[in-house]
Amino acid sequence: MSLENVTETYQQEVPPHAPRATPVHAFAPPVDLTDPTVFSSNGGYTHDAFAAMRENAPVMWHPEQNAAGFWAVTSYDLVKKVEVDPATFSSQRGGILMTYGLPDQPRHPLLHASSLNSLINLDRPYHTPLRMEHMHFFRPGFVAELRKRVDVQVTELLDAMEKQGPVVDMVEMFSAELPLFTLCEILGVPAADRPKLVHWMHFLETSQYQAQQEGLGNVTPEQIMAFMTEIQAMFDYGRYILAERRREPKEDLLSAIANVEIDGKPLSPEFLDGSWLLIVFAGNDTTRNSLSGTMRLLTEFADQKEKLMANPDLFPNFVHEAIRMVTPVTYMRRTATQDTELGGQPIAEGEKVVMYYPAANRDPAKFINPHRFDIERENAKEHLSFGNGPHVCLGQRVANMQLEAAYRQILGRFPKVRCTGEQTIAPNNFVHAISSLMVDLGT
Ligand code: HEM
Repeated sequence: MSLENVTETYQQEVPPHAPRATPVHAFAPPVDLTDPTVFSSNGGYTHDAFAAMRENAPVMWHPEQNAAGFWAVTSYDLVKKVEVDPATFSSQRGGILMTYGLPDQPRHPLLHASSLNSLINLDRPYHTPLRMEHMHFFRPGFVAELRKRVDVQVTELLDAMEKQGPVVDMVEMFSAELPLFTLCEILGVPAADRPKLVHWMHFLETSQYQAQQEGLGNVTPEQIMAFMTEIQAMFDYGRYILAERRREPKEDLLSAIANVEIDGKPLSPEFLDGSWLLIVFAGNDTTRNSLSGTMRLLTEFADQKEKLMANPDLFPNFVHEAIRMVTPVTYMRRTATQDTELGGQPIAEGEKVVMYYPAANRDPAKFINPHRFDIERENAKEHLSFGNGPHVCLGQRVANMQLEAAYRQILGRFPKVRCTGEQTIAPNNFVHAISSLMVDLGT
């Protein structure tokens, strides 16, 4: 197998079926984890359902309407066990998203191919060299330099918020803006082209949101045409800029991606598309939701906000604890490469295993009083929001840095800031998607 065809197996459609081994715990799913609306009702919290699963069946069989079904893993220890054993639990064999391999999925071919053909869906031997090529842009020295530019951008965004305030939508004015700025800085997208990227990301999210709200059957031909045109333009831009960087490399991640060689060959167009888009997709709404979710925590746990403002040395641990509590990514999927066992549950080769990070991060066996936001929690840093093992989030330092840079200035400037209680959570079972959050700056 070569890098060109590793993802072909993802296309296989597997009809619904029962697991080969009888579930050890006879416990039916309390909610349908494939239904995106489960994650948008009740303030986006599914902690009761996850607690019931963890207590009754930490490895639970979850049937699917159109696909094979999967094992849902909800305890901290077992999620970690899956993460650190890629030889048994593969990212490459079926891909990390539940939607891969589903029949009848309306999808844009380029968008689909680029989402498949990327680092996050690879195992050894391809994963390691490709990841190494990215490393320089995520090391402490690079991130410290980046922080200076992020600090300036935070000030500008807060200036605009103050001007419009006192009540503003934090998502629109801050959380959606800062991560895209940071990603453009890492990738090396020229300043003049950034509005295009911002436009495409907003467009993608809005059309996805509209399709979910209105139902795919109600999308008009004009909307489909607009979608096709925008997506094509985004890919054309990526291919153009990567070709430029092959011709004339610079000190940026786009140049690194453009010039990677695996097995002595440059990346195929599909992997080039997938590589730069993975950074944008992986670093964008994850960081956005951690920024917004943290504001909710500071409002709900006002005593912790006071403690933080009184002792800024607590900022680094506050960031870990906030990312534990928010858990921006809901799941990652793996596929068993051989017959195996997890927490006493036999799992057959080819069966899917889905790790639920919000459940692992609120496991009382790991985190005492797990629903309490405690900025002095000793083991906050051990959260699994960034995953673990060989695929552990490449951008975690960048994410932590943005959260710290943002809140140092937000709390310094607007000590009375708080959420008004008005928010919108988009239906999404992959990321916790806060699409609007009204905030009173207290000015
Ligand atoms: C709070 C923000 C973020 C969260 C919660 C998050 C979460 C995750 C998770 C759960 C994974 C998969 C880990 C696994 O399978 O074990 C991942 C992988 C990844 N993340 Fe992040 N992420 C965040 C921010 C970022 C940022 C800012 C970037 C880029 C600048 C980024 C780039 C990546 C990449 C490239 C991967 C794939 C790594 C690989 O497969 O080797 N992430 N992230």
